[in-house]
Amino acid sequence: MNVAVFGAGYVGLVTGAVFADLGHDVILVEVSQAKIEAIREGRSPIYEAGLDSMLSRVVRSNRLKVTDEPREAVAGSDVIFVTVGTPPLPNGEADMRHVRDAALAIGRSLSSDRRRVIVNKATVPIGSANLVEIWIQDGYGAAHPGETLSSEWFAVASNPEFLREGTAIDDTLYADRIVIGTDKEWAVERLRELYDPIVRQSFNPPPESQRPPGFDHVPLIVTDRISAELIKYAANAFLATKISFANEIANVADRVGADVKEVMRGIGLDARIGPRFLNAGIGWGGSCLGKDLAALTVMAENYGYVPRLLKAAADVNRDQRLLAVKLVQEELKTIKGRRVALWGLAFKPGTDDLRDAPSLTIIDELLRLGARVRVYDPVAMDNLRRQAPDLAVEYARTAYEALEGADALILVTEWPEFREVPPQDVKARLTQGVVIDGRNLWEPGAMRAAGLRYRAIGR
Ligand SMILES: NC(=O)c1ccc[n+]([C@@H]2O[C@H](COP(=O)([O-])OP(=O)(O)OC[C@H]3O[C@@H](n4cnc5c(N)ncnc54)[C@H](O)[C@@H]3O)[C@@H](O)[C@H]2O)c1
Repeated sequence: MNVAVFGAGYVGLVTGAVFADLGHDVILVEVSQAKIEAIREGRSPIYEAGLDSMLSRVVRSNRLKVTDEPREAVAGSDVIFVTVGTPPLPNGEADMRHVRDAALAIGRSLSSDRRRVIVNKATVPIGSANLVEIWIQDGYGAAHPGETLSSEWFAVASNPEFLREGTAIDDTLYADRIVIGTDKEWAVERLRELYDPIVRQSFNPPPESQRPPGFDHVPLIVTDRISAELIKYAANAFLATKISFANEIANVADRVGADVKEVMRGIGLDARIGPRFLNAGIGWGGSCLGKDLAALTVMAENYGYVPRLLKAAADVNRDQRLLAVKLVQEELKTIKGRRVALWGLAFKPGTDDLRDAPSLTIIDELLRLGARVRVYDPVAMDNLRRQAPDLAVEYARTAYEALEGADALILVTEWPEFREVPPQDVKARLTQGVVIDGRNLWEPGAMRAAGLRYRAIGR
C-alpha cells in the first residue's frame, strides 16, 4: 500500500519506518529541513531504540522517502497519516495549528482519481475528525475555486497512537490494541488491510524488535470517530491519575512510616488494579500525559462538566516535582550557595525528550533558591543545551563528574546505568552525602549503610 505520513517526529518516524519495514511504500512529509536531511541519510533525528538501524534499512531499500512537498506524497497515497505535533496552548487546549496546516496541504493536493483515507494519528481534541474534514475541503477549494470534493473520494478516520518513547518500535509492532474510528466501511477495510500483519502477527520480527513469547494477536477496535478520539484522552488521563494515586499514597506512607513500594506491590497483585504505573516518585512528565490531561480538562469544562478527579491528578503531580527540592532543603537546611547534582534530564529513561520533564521544574526551583546545579544525562544534554542555551547549569561529562564537590544528588531519571552505581562511590564524591532518590531506584538499606543521608519517596 502507498502510505504518506505528515510529520516526521517521534510518532511519524516510527510509524513510517515500521510500515516501510512491513513492506509498504512510505513517504514522510516534513517541514524541518534538518530532519529531512538526517532521514535522507538514513539517520534518525531523534533518539529512539532501534530506530537508526530500521530507518537506514528502509531508506537504503527505497521503501521510505522523505519530502517537504505535500503534493507528490498525497498524489501517490492510499492512506495519509497526520502525525504532526499538537502542543498545549497556555490555557491547556491543544494547539491545532500544525494539524490545520497539514489538512489544508492535503486538501490542496487531493483529487478524484482514487479514494484516500486521511488518518488523525496525532492526539487531537474531540470533534477534530469533523474539523479536519472541513479544513481538507477548504484546501481543496483553494486549489479548485468554486468546487468541493465529493465525500466519496476521501474519508477522515481517527486512529490514536499509544506508543511510548523508548519502546516505540515494540509498542507499534506488539501493540496492546489498535483503535480505528470512522463512519465509512471502505476506510475501515483499508486500515484493516494495512494493519493486518500486526493484528495477526504474520510478519517476521525485525532485528530491532523481538516478538514477546506467546504474543500472537493485537485486538482491533472499530468504533465511531468521537469515541476513538476520547479513548486516547481517557487512556492518558487514567495513566496520569494512576501515578498520582501512587504518589498520594506515598505521601501518606511517609507520614505513617509505611513503605510505598510494599504497599503498591500489595495492591498491584489485585487483578482489578494491576502492578504497572504504580511507581511513586517525583511524578510524570513527557510530551503527552500533562498535555492530554490539560486538554481533556478544558474539553470537559467547555461541555459543562468540572472534572475534579483530573484536576486533582494534575495538582498532585505538580507538588510531587517540588518535593525533590523540599527534601534537599530538609537535609541541607539552606539551599543558597549549595551545589546540587542532577542525574537524569529526560522525562524517562530511553529517550532524549525533555518536553514537560520534571527535571526542568526541579532545575528552575533550585536556581530560584540560589543553588548551583550540575547535570548529567546519557542522551538528553544536547537537547537541553539547544532548548535552553541560557540556562545557568553546568554540564558534566559523566555521572561521577556531576557529583564531584556537590552537596546533594537528586536522581531524576532512572537510567539503568544509575542503578548499578555502588553507594560508596556516591558517598566518596558528595560533600554532604545527601541523596534524594526521586524514582525509588536504590535499596534504602544499602544507601544508608554506605553513610549516605538517603531520602526516597514514601519509603
Ligand atoms: N511522542 C509520543 O510519545 C506520542 C505518543 C502518542 C501520541 N502522540 C501524539 O502524536 C502527535 C505527534 O507527537 P510527536 O511526539 O511525534 O511530535 P513531534 O513534535 O516529535 O513531531 C511532529 C513533527 O511534525 C512536523 N510538522 C509540523 N507541521 C507540519 C506540517 N504542516 N507538515 C509536515 N510536518 C509538520 C514537525 O516539524 C515535527 O517533526 C501529538 O499529537 C502527540 O500528542 C505522541
